Amino acid sequence: MTQGGVEGAMTRAKEGAMTGTMAIAAHLFSVPAYEQEAQAVLPPAIWAYLSGGAMSETTLGANRESWERLQLVPRRLQALTGGHTRLELWGKTYEHPIWLAPVAHQQLFHAEAELASAQGAGATQTPMLVSSFANRRLEDIAAHSSAPLWFQLYWQGSRAASLALIRRAESAGYQAIVLTVDAPHMGIRDRERASGFQLAADCLAVNLEYSPIRPVPEPGRHPLFDGLFALAPVWEDVVWLKSQTSLPVVLKGILHPADAQQAVQLGVDGLIVSNHGGRVMDGCITPMDALPALRAVTPELYPLFLDSGIRRGSEVVKALALGATAVMVGRPYVYGLAVAGALGVAHVVQLLREELEVTMGQCGCASLQAVRQLTVLD
Ligand code: FNR
Ligand code: LAC
Repeated sequence: MTQGGVEGAMTRAKEGAMTGTMAIAAHLFSVPAYEQEAQAVLPPAIWAYLSGGAMSETTLGANRESWERLQLVPRRLQALTGGHTRLELWGKTYEHPIWLAPVAHQQLFHAEAELASAQGAGATQTPMLVSSFANRRLEDIAAHSSAPLWFQLYWQGSRAASLALIRRAESAGYQAIVLTVDAPHMGIRDRERASGFQLAADCLAVNLEYSPIRPVPEPGRHPLFDGLFALAPVWEDVVWLKSQTSLPVVLKGILHPADAQQAVQLGVDGLIVSNHGGRVMDGCITPMDALPALRAVTPELYPLFLDSGIRRGSEVVKALALGATAVMVGRPYVYGLAVAGALGVAHVVQLLREELEVTMGQCGCASLQAVRQLTVLD
């Protein structure tokens, strides 16, 4: 392990923990602690953008409640020696199942933006999904990280514009294409509106050379349904996408079993069961409530990732026990980014991973396969 960069800082932080001189403040021992600290360091409007949810925020709250209400039924007296958190996917081995969800415009949270997150991801062997709305070039992010990177595609309104991004991601070594399908329109977020949040002029989606052209509907046509909604992808575009790339294609935001079945039939390689962290639609089913039905209609071991509302390693265990292949976190690592850049991102992942491992042991599970056999009660 090098002594420079985040790896060095992580080593020093661990050594510091033993000698009582922490590189990271001692009160930052959990995601909720990072959340409090992030709120304290970020301007109120940026905090409203990061933490807010759609409309009355019932779905935002339901995401948290869903994980809190589940109960694990631990097994006792199981041998734990040789245990690990590894998983195999598409011929590759991943060290642990807590991955970084795509989050737009990370320059809002830290001057080094996605470069810092990617560095933190690399230091902790954590796959990171890079948003279409990144503020740094896909190529520069890849150059800054040893982490496996996946590219999150927001449909660019046309196949040609979407393909240009996919080709860049492929050339830069991104390992999967993730098409987000749950946001034909951004959420109506009251808290964000009340805060007066606006993107700063220098906060640019630098990878989007082709900004989507908003069609102006003919007189008499609907401004939204025939306008912005007309730019959203449809199933035929998923078929086309599959035909254009040899990388695995994943759909983000699937919640209905019939959509999951259709995706499997079309050869889609995996799904992210997500309600976008409660940011897009209020009154939406939670991923926790949706997952069992999706697991029931998809082939055994079909990759079903999950995000929205996970804040504890124990909740990762719950999600995996319900059938998730791995989980992703969005806001938690951004709290780390806001508080301490790359080191904060790495620390948040490390804290969640420690909670995951301790909970696994407490449940008698020495592997993620064992976690999948656990009983979890709603
Ligand atoms: C997001 N999310 C998101 N998703 C996506 O597909 N593309 C994007 O650009 C963004 N941007 C984004 C910005 C911010 C500020 C947040 C908080 C989230 C959604 C994200 O990938 C993920 O689905 C949720 O964040 C998961 O919920 P938690 O972990 O934040 O509760
Ligand atoms: C959001 C969009 C960018 O959630 O996905 O803010």
